[in-house]
Amino acid sequence: MKNDALAPQAGVRFMSWRDMILTPLLETAILACCAAGTWLVHRYLQPLDLFSGILTAYALLITVTIAVLIVLRLAWPQKPGIYTEARHPWRVYRFNLQGFLCCCNLGPFYLNGGAHLFLKKPFYRLLGATFGRNIMMIAGSMEEPDLVHLEDNVLIGSEAVLSPHVMTIGPDLESRLILGKIRIKRGALIGARAMLLPSVTVGENSIVSAMSLVSAFTVIPPNEIWGGVPAKKIGDVKRAEAAKPAGPSPSALAEPQAAPRHQETLA
Ligand SMILES: CC(C)(COP(=O)(O)OP(=O)(O)OC[C@H]1O[C@@H](n2cnc3c(N)ncnc32)[C@H](O)[C@@H]1OP(=O)(O)O)[C@@H](O)C(=O)NCCC(=O)NCCS
Repeated sequence: MKNDALAPQAGVRFMSWRDMILTPLLETAILACCAAGTWLVHRYLQPLDLFSGILTAYALLITVTIAVLIVLRLAWPQKPGIYTEARHPWRVYRFNLQGFLCCCNLGPFYLNGGAHLFLKKPFYRLLGATFGRNIMMIAGSMEEPDLVHLEDNVLIGSEAVLSPHVMTIGPDLESRLILGKIRIKRGALIGARAMLLPSVTVGENSIVSAMSLVSAFTVIPPNEIWGGVPAKKIGDVKRAEAAKPAGPSPSALAEPQAAPRHQETLA
């Protein structure tokens, strides 16, 4: 049975004429810059064959896109909030535009955090993430790096996703975009393949267990262990250390040794 009451609103999503006209115009300008830059290199610096021409154009695409994103962030920064297409069309468009440029032009580096481990930190910093000291590598990925802040000694496990945006559908069936800062405090550890949603704060020295989902607006206090989907408190960092037996020694966890020769002889 057709539900007429739902039909008109169910189509309200996050796309508008801005995405159909302004974004393609900007993308065309970026591609034109890359083509012109490649031609200039070929003409005045170094003659390029097809392969080196494609590589040069791709390097220029990454450079120009990052430059555009930096200008965008300084001139028109993303703001945490809850937005709908009907009431905040330009805020939603701002989010869409950044997503488009990152996904299309920086794809392998941005999607799934595909950059080399040592390049991820400078890459995310260029896109607006802020870092404390002693963070050598980011093993996971960030969706909107401009809304992520990591303090000193934070460890991000492999394939963890820090996503400062989430899309939901409200009771009126209108899509909502939630944007919020993710803050990870000193010494916290985000387990492998965990996912953090907008406005999540992870307290000092706390641990988010591997494969957990930390819901939007969750504040994890210091020194706690959280895990599960959705994540809940499952322990306490200090208490867990004190209560646990010492556990097997590192040598007991090593590969079993081959049986001594004299045992083989006896058998
Ligand atoms: C959360 C974590 C720290 C717990 O490790 P631990 O101290 O050895 O504790 P245990 O595995 O014995 O689990 C302790 C309790 O929490 C529970 N627990 C562990 N992970 C859980 C999860 N994801 N969801 C729900 N409960 C969980 C266990 O069932 C256990 O419950 P019990 O005491 O009732 O038996 C560990 O599982 C973890 O995920 N560490 C992150 C590692 C990681 O990804 N590092 C980055 C690598 S790149």
